[in-house]
Amino acid sequence: MKRLRMLLTMVLACGLVAAMLHAESAPPRTPNELALTPPMGWNTWNRFGCKINEKLIRQAADAMVSSGMRDAGYVYIVIDDCWQGERDAKGNIRPDPLRFPSGMKALGDYIHAKGLKFGIYSDAGQLTCGKRPGSWGHEYQDARTYASWGVDYLKYDWCSTYTQDAPSTYTTMSDALRATGRPIVFSICEWGVNKPWLWAKNVGNLWRTTDDIYDHWSGQDGYQHSVLAILDLQVGLDGFAGPGHWNDPDMLEVGNGGMSNVEYQSHFSLWAMLAAPLMAGNDLADMSAETKAILTNREVIAVDQDPLGIEASRVAKQGDYEVWARPLKGGGRAVLLLNRSATAHAITVDWADLNLPASLRMKVRDLWTHKDLPAARGSFTANVPSHGVAMLRME
Ligand code: GAL
Repeated sequence: MKRLRMLLTMVLACGLVAAMLHAESAPPRTPNELALTPPMGWNTWNRFGCKINEKLIRQAADAMVSSGMRDAGYVYIVIDDCWQGERDAKGNIRPDPLRFPSGMKALGDYIHAKGLKFGIYSDAGQLTCGKRPGSWGHEYQDARTYASWGVDYLKYDWCSTYTQDAPSTYTTMSDALRATGRPIVFSICEWGVNKPWLWAKNVGNLWRTTDDIYDHWSGQDGYQHSVLAILDLQVGLDGFAGPGHWNDPDMLEVGNGGMSNVEYQSHFSLWAMLAAPLMAGNDLADMSAETKAILTNREVIAVDQDPLGIEASRVAKQGDYEVWARPLKGGGRAVLLLNRSATAHAITVDWADLNLPASLRMKVRDLWTHKDLPAARGSFTANVPSHGVAMLRME
């Protein structure tokens, strides 16, 4: 009896050691080497919601090229929720036959022929937020289908997931995408609920940090967050982003009509400071000259796309006046002065806020007027309009 017990203990101990060894020898997840700078493109949701069809997508692809947006860096055309029809008898996902009669392969080919990339949306649960079929239980099958359509980007939502575990659920789809052999950027959209910045670095290429954006400068309405509400939720997250793995403060509202052009300029500048994915969310085929000028400001885009990939942090705040800064490749800094108040106000960045010696003389360039300003020593002050920013490059 005693020997049997000893034997049992030994067997159990061996099992435990084997399990530990296995855990230790499991290969670490590696990055997929995609999205080394924040992805840029256009997505249907913010402007069109569920009212989408293949004609609209083709028009958006055409406008992406004719507007000069493609050449400014926007490449992904992403079809968000509501493209799905029923699954077929074998469980293969099919597009809504009325809205996408030519099929997704043909649409992907059209997008690729324009020098653009093709993005699509699904959900980790049984149903998407728009109540179309989700990918739960069909992850590998759907990933293979997307790859066969030429999909380059998948946004993966979190509706109807009930008790599902977020890290393992997203890892399953990440593995399914990798198994296709096609490079597919993976956009995690679980609204920041499970703090993806702590676990998603090598699972996805970007992760939403908050619930949805809406076309407002300030305030919040249920799950809908304004530009400033989202901005405040980014404080402290900057250390988690870097090449291949980005914080996603949600898509752009620039040009959708709910904010002034000054506010849209601030929204765009702030997202560039945050190294955010730049997904335009307006009607590209019907865009004002002001909207186009904001979205295609190459000096601001260059900050977003800086190869170091260091996200800005808020380095000073005095009530409604804030200073945000990020280091750039080559030793320079991008600096943004934000005025949240209802009147214009002078805002100063002190070199101490940038961890630089007061004696340093810095060149200053205004990224919205595209002008070099007089060099500054110790500090720099600009008069910033209400709800506006000054966005500067200093070196
Ligand atoms: C939300 C998501 C939005 C959009 C929408 C589609 O969960 O945050 O960006 O994708 O679903 O139903």
